[in-house]
Amino acid sequence: MEILARLDAFLKEAETGIKHADSLKATEELRVKYLGRKSEITSILKRLGTLAPELRPNVGKAANEVKIKIEALLRDRIEELSNEIFDGIGRRERIDITEPGIKKETGHLHPITRMSMEIEDIFTSMGFTIATGPEVELDYYNFEALNIPPDHPARDIQDTIWTVEGSLLRTHTSCVQIRTMEKFKPPIRVIAPGRVFRYEETDASHEHTFYQIEGLMIDKNISVSNLIAVMKTMLRAVFRHDVKVRLRPGYFPFVEPGFELDITCLICGGTGCPVCKGSGWVEFLGCGLVHPNVLRMGGIDPDQYSGFAFGMGLDRLVMIRYGIDDIRLFHKGDLRFLEQF
Ligand code: DAH
Repeated sequence: MEILARLDAFLKEAETGIKHADSLKATEELRVKYLGRKSEITSILKRLGTLAPELRPNVGKAANEVKIKIEALLRDRIEELSNEIFDGIGRRERIDITEPGIKKETGHLHPITRMSMEIEDIFTSMGFTIATGPEVELDYYNFEALNIPPDHPARDIQDTIWTVEGSLLRTHTSCVQIRTMEKFKPPIRVIAPGRVFRYEETDASHEHTFYQIEGLMIDKNISVSNLIAVMKTMLRAVFRHDVKVRLRPGYFPFVEPGFELDITCLICGGTGCPVCKGSGWVEFLGCGLVHPNVLRMGGIDPDQYSGFAFGMGLDRLVMIRYGIDDIRLFHKGDLRFLEQF
């Protein structure tokens, strides 16, 4: 029975070997070693005929069983190894499909950028194109060509950030009106989104750096009703329902007549609340018909053409839409705020 004991030991050895095989290549080497032509099991089976006849059935049966067991062990180990992957540093990693995944943090566009893109889409669908201008601007475009004379209060050194060379950081996007008129002949339909700067103490509703969208439409016979129609179309698209508007006279040197456009307070729906200070209305943007002097500065004949212009604060619009009460949150880089959008 020495031969049966050897088979037993052989199976034990194979079991341990296969259990520790750590790669598919290793299992293949073990298959050759334990079941191949030169393996112990093959030689036992080959020599069956030389055994005493009464031993043959038992030994033959035992050897075959051992062979089948080793084949099964190898098959199982190969399957186990196939379910394992190797990570970059060569450690083996088991995939547990029941384990909760690790959520990858992904960034997203800033709420002001998103609002700007949304408004750009609304206006391009009305046939407007997007115009841009420099943030470091000349006095001429920021003030002079916009009918703001040198002694005008809007030029007050307090409000404007000047560069040492005598240029300035544009205080509004209205400069792009002039730059556009210089480049294109009417009919003109553009909007100009961009960053603007003021020399300003900051508080919950004031920032030194913020965003505006300027609009300009010039053609024959443009009137206040065109202005109102375009404003209403934009507001309906932004707020997704009809928004009531009213125009109040407002003074801006580059428009005549100039207006403040108010919309119904979206917090109380117009009945009066602390946000609208009980009036039911909130100031939304400045607008008007382009001043003849401005058209002239842009090389356009005011006797032939007229136009409207408007300028709105993007930060304010995002604040109204999401009920944000502090403009300074936009540029603080606080993820607790930004991740809410
Ligand atoms: N530029 C003005 C500002 O920054 C906003 C404005 C008012 C723009 C009236 C316009 C306009 O185009 O017609 O306060």
